[in-house]
Amino acid sequence: MEAGAGRKRQIEIYVGGVRGRRPSVPADSAKLERFAQRVLRPEAFAYLAGGAGLEETMRANREAFERRRIVPRMLRDVSTRDTTIELFGRTLPLPFLLAPVGVLELAHRDADLAVARAAAAEGVPMIFSNQASRPMEECAAAMGDSPRWFQLYTSTSDELVASFLRRAEDCGCEALVVTLDTTMLGWRVRDLDLTYLPFLRGKGIAQYTSDPVFRRLVEETPPPTLEERPNLAALAAVVELARSHPGSFWRNVRSAKPRTAARLFIEIYSRPTLTWADLPAIRSATSLPILLKGILHSEDARLAVEAGMNGIVVSNHGGRQVDGAIASLDALAAVVEAVGDRVPVLLDSGVRGGADVFKALALGARAVLIGRPYTYGLALAGEEGVRQVIRNFAADFDLTMGLAGCRSVAEIGPDAIADGACSTRP
Ligand code: GLV
Repeated sequence: MEAGAGRKRQIEIYVGGVRGRRPSVPADSAKLERFAQRVLRPEAFAYLAGGAGLEETMRANREAFERRRIVPRMLRDVSTRDTTIELFGRTLPLPFLLAPVGVLELAHRDADLAVARAAAAEGVPMIFSNQASRPMEECAAAMGDSPRWFQLYTSTSDELVASFLRRAEDCGCEALVVTLDTTMLGWRVRDLDLTYLPFLRGKGIAQYTSDPVFRRLVEETPPPTLEERPNLAALAAVVELARSHPGSFWRNVRSAKPRTAARLFIEIYSRPTLTWADLPAIRSATSLPILLKGILHSEDARLAVEAGMNGIVVSNHGGRQVDGAIASLDALAAVVEAVGDRVPVLLDSGVRGGADVFKALALGARAVLIGRPYTYGLALAGEEGVRQVIRNFAADFDLTMGLAGCRSVAEIGPDAIADGACSTRP
């Protein structure tokens, strides 16, 4: 790597400043969130930024990163650095991927498409969300050969799951991430208090409304009966549904299909009956490597490997599911120990900067997922905003790695971290 992503980005920002130019997204992650809040509608920000219950797990995710300290080593010639990693046969430029995030149309009208373009431009893999606002084919078409994965929620319809998997393979996804922790939605107080669930307004269901199996199921489903006379709010919701549904707005507004699709989605999207016994069916339905996302217990990690899974994503869903759950970073070491080097372990939840990426790798993660920060970049400046967030993470990580005395990701080991006890270390 020539100047290194870090110095290149610093120069770009500082030299831009001399000419009076300012990046459209702040480098400071707290500011990034605050700025996004300013431009988003309250219910959009609540959905993207919020967590479950008292949001203690969201805070615990941050606190777990803050508790760990990097112990930099000196005099190691870090003039050239290699931030690449190998994952499922691909060389990736950086040890992070863009996490699957649903309902990105809440952040920006170009939604997943803008993220796909940004990810491809920066060479960072994007994990298409099951709850995307744009169909996976549309995003894949914008990405050339750039890597993408697909995230799956196991539906009560096996036929629909099979169709999603077929489509993911057909549009070049290189791995499947099965999210296990959202068989039901967590108790999300911000959304509850705003009485806002985007799916009921036809948002975040584009993988469904673009799916031939789902469309057939919609045709076979009787339209929902109106329990009360529609009031003004209900009529506004009909307009919103018609806007989100594919096809002509005027046809949608007169049709019951958008409402039927939203209701059908609510009925079939989640599968709380899911057990380990369901994994062989998913395993045999795809030839892609499968990662299980939402693992926090070492025994579950062991079971995942025994079930033939190819990777694990240690995650508490950004604190959106079980409030009071262990921080992902605190769960990481035990999971890594349980699986050894049999499959890669990725870390998701709470990653807000390059030092967090470094800490997760030092504790045994092969790579991390970045979620909310890129959605805030998307909210502020669309594709360009996402690109800037990726570049900031790349720069921060590159500089942190070098300044900690590591020339490559392989050199980042457990001895680079002090576990909240810096003063007792040599
Ligand atoms: C869905 O994945 C959500 O976290 O809202």
